[in-house]
Amino acid sequence: MADNIHEFLGSATPQAWIDAAVANVDTLLLDHKNCEYKAASNAINLMAKYQERPDLINAMSRLAREELVHYEQVLKIIKARNIPLRPLTAARYASGLRALVRRNEPGMITDILLISAFIEARSCERFGAVAPHLDAELSKFYSGLLASEARHFQGYIRLAHLYGDAEDIGKRIAVIRPVEQALVADPDSDFRFHSGPPIPALAVA
Ligand SMILES: [Fe+2]
Ligand SMILES: [Fe+2]
Repeated sequence: MADNIHEFLGSATPQAWIDAAVANVDTLLLDHKNCEYKAASNAINLMAKYQERPDLINAMSRLAREELVHYEQVLKIIKARNIPLRPLTAARYASGLRALVRRNEPGMITDILLISAFIEARSCERFGAVAPHLDAELSKFYSGLLASEARHFQGYIRLAHLYGDAEDIGKRIAVIRPVEQALVADPDSDFRFHSGPPIPALAVA
């Protein structure tokens, strides 16, 4: 994995989360499917919100299509393994990060793009962390996906610099980083792709 992703995140996925993932592969896959949907949906929402920014809408249109291909790939694996589809509640992760978004432009677009970059970077880091512990099919699939997530991370950082101020971006990364680190490392009520390690003795739902 790209060193700059580790540097950007500043923390590694805890072993307790990896252990939970290995013990709950069905939930991992179902939530991963939802993450791909949300990545596409986020990209489409940005196309509607920032219609006057051609670089953004072009990049987001391409991204949305790619995330939906990932969605279909995860769905295929879920079907092949006869894992019953069921609704899952969202992790606290994205909402915890979105709470940081400033209410006014140009702060808002900078924050949205940086948070999207963090989510892509963490996805890349997590795919890399868990892949060696999964069965051969998933290990190969996740190792393949982490290259896409690294590219998506770079794309969001590029857009943040295109529309934002470098000094402001640096300050906002410093604000978002510790919040993101806590969301993936602090004990969590649910196990999800972007959750913290589940609190022991809590049932995985
Ligand atoms: Fe994806
Ligand atoms: Fe992505």
